[in-house]
Amino acid sequence: MTRVSQPVDDGEAIVTPEGGHYFDLRADTPSRPGLVRLDLPDRSLELHTDRGVFSADRVDPGTKVLLIELPELPPGPVVDLGCGYGPIAATLAARRPGQPVWAVDVNERARQLCARNLAAVAAEGTELHVVAPEEVPAELRVVAIVSNPPIRVGKAVLHDLLRTWLGRLVEGGEAWLVVQKHLGADSLARWLGEQGWQVERVRSRQGYRILRVHR
Ligand SMILES: C[S@@+](CC[C@H](N)C(=O)[O-])C[C@H]1O[C@@H](n2cnc3c(N)ncnc32)[C@H](O)[C@@H]1O
Repeated sequence: MTRVSQPVDDGEAIVTPEGGHYFDLRADTPSRPGLVRLDLPDRSLELHTDRGVFSADRVDPGTKVLLIELPELPPGPVVDLGCGYGPIAATLAARRPGQPVWAVDVNERARQLCARNLAAVAAEGTELHVVAPEEVPAELRVVAIVSNPPIRVGKAVLHDLLRTWLGRLVEGGEAWLVVQKHLGADSLARWLGEQGWQVERVRSRQGYRILRVHR
């Protein structure tokens, strides 16, 4: 099942080359569709992008580092939290045929692109849920969260988001996060530790930290 829901504001306060902010980018931002290539050691994907979504011109280098470092995940539903146009969700769907994928974003255009990109790579019949945060069923539990999270929304919102989603991990579940070092990867790791989570810095590469978070 692929669901795409109603327009909501974007949540990334990143200044764009056009001088706007992601907060300003809504569904009426003029469209300029594009394609980007995601080259990983195990596969290459072509992904549809557009203006008004995060890193529309190339796959974010942090996202790529995360996907290179990500180990094989156990069977069961996984979530790409803050999916954008879906490089993480699409890689998860391609690597784990038939396993359910949840992709969540506040940006409607991003969700539409993500749904299209997921449908192109997922095995037929795979459960694909591309949804806005308010559409996530309260009872959803996931075996893994894989995310390039929206750091720039501010600590309070980010902490709230992570608290909610970490609470949806099954026993033994893990979150794999990529965060830029200069955007506060270490203070986020510290905060997660203070919340009672085990945090491992799996890798530091090209200015990005890969964090593995579990109980
Ligand atoms: C750093 S970008 C990563 C996008 C994509 N996963 C990638 O790797 O290219 C973070 C994403 O989080 C989304 N976002 C912001 N606030 C959010 C929220 N409260 N819930 C879900 N997604 C959110 C933004 O719209 C943005 O697409």
